[in-house]
Amino acid sequence: MLLQLDAVGKAFGGVSAVDGVSFGVAQGQVHGLIGPNGAGKTTLINLISGLMRPDRGAICFDGQRIDRLPPYRVAALGIRRTYQNIRLFPAMTARENVTVGQHTRRTDTLLERLWFSPRVAAEERRLRDEALRLLARVDVSDLAEVRASNLSYGDQRRLEIARALGSEPRLLLLDEPAAGMNGTEARALGRLVRSLVGDGLTVLLVEHNVRLVMEVCDGITVLDFGRVIADGTPAEVSRDEAVIAAYLGTDDDQAADVQETIATLETAAGSLIEPAPAQGEAPRPGAETEAR
Ligand SMILES: Nc1ncnc2c1ncn2[C@@H]1O[C@H](COP(=O)(O)OP(=O)(O)OP(=O)(O)O)[C@@H](O)[C@H]1O
Ligand SMILES: [Mg+2]
Repeated sequence: MLLQLDAVGKAFGGVSAVDGVSFGVAQGQVHGLIGPNGAGKTTLINLISGLMRPDRGAICFDGQRIDRLPPYRVAALGIRRTYQNIRLFPAMTARENVTVGQHTRRTDTLLERLWFSPRVAAEERRLRDEALRLLARVDVSDLAEVRASNLSYGDQRRLEIARALGSEPRLLLLDEPAAGMNGTEARALGRLVRSLVGDGLTVLLVEHNVRLVMEVCDGITVLDFGRVIADGTPAEVSRDEAVIAAYLGTDDDQAADVQETIATLETAAGSLIEPAPAQGEAPRPGAETEAR
C-alpha cells in the first residue's frame, strides 16, 4: 500500500473525530473517503497531511511513518492536498496563484534576484511556462489571467488542483473537489481525476457527491462518527446496509441531498452488481426514515 492508516485516532475535547481508523490506498488508485457531515473526513486529511498529529495509531507513506512529521516534510515526500474551504489568493490571477505554489522550486538565488541577474528573467519565464502547463493540465488555460475571485467555484477548485500538482506529488488528497459544481462540471472533474491517475498519481478523494465517487473510485472507505463502517469496491459499499443507514441518520436539512445519495447508492447497486441480489437489497428510503 502506498498509504496505510493503522488504528488512527484523534479527539477534540470530548469529541472523538477519528476513532481507530484503518485502511490502505494502493499505488495508482483513486480511493474514495465518504461519510455524512462530521464523520471525520477532513480531520483524516489533516492528519495525513501533517496539519494535525494523531493521538494514537500510525500513518505510513511508502513504508515510512509520517504521523509525526510537520506538513512541509510530508509535502516534500510527495503528498499534496486541496482544501474543503478554497484557499486561493482572490486578488491574484489564476496563473499567479499557481506560481505562488512554485516559489520553493525556484533555482535562482536571492542574491541573483537582488542583482537582476539574467538568470532571474529566465527563471521567471520558466515558472510562467510551468504555471501555464499546470493550468492546461486541469483545463483552465483560457483563464490564466483572470483573477481568482472572478472564477466560478468549479474553476477555483480546478485551480487548487493545479497548484497542488506543481510539486509533482505522488499522492493527492482532495477534500470535496466537486463542491459547488453542477453535474456536468462534476463529471468533467471525475475525468480529470482519472487522467491524473493515468499519469501515475494516487488520489484520496473525499466527496459528498456519491455518484462521482462511485464512478471514479477503485475502492471506497465509509466513515461515520469517526469510525470505518464499510470498506470495499463501489459495488460492495453501495449495497452495504450500514452505509445507507448512516446516510439516513443525518440531519433533516440535508434530506434532499441524502435522498439523492441513497438513490445513487441504489442505482449503483443495481447497475454494478450482476445479477441484482435477490435478498438483502438496500432498504427503501421511506421505510427506513419512518423507523427513526
Ligand atoms: N479543529 C477542531 N476543533 C474541534 N472540533 C473539531 C475540529 N475539527 C473537526 N472537529 C470536529 O470533529 C468532527 C469531525 O469533523 P470533520 O470536519 O473531520 O468532518 P467531515 O467528515 O469533514 O465533515 P464535512 O462533511 O461536514 O466536511 C466533527 O464533530 C467536528 O465538529
Ligand atoms: Mg470535511
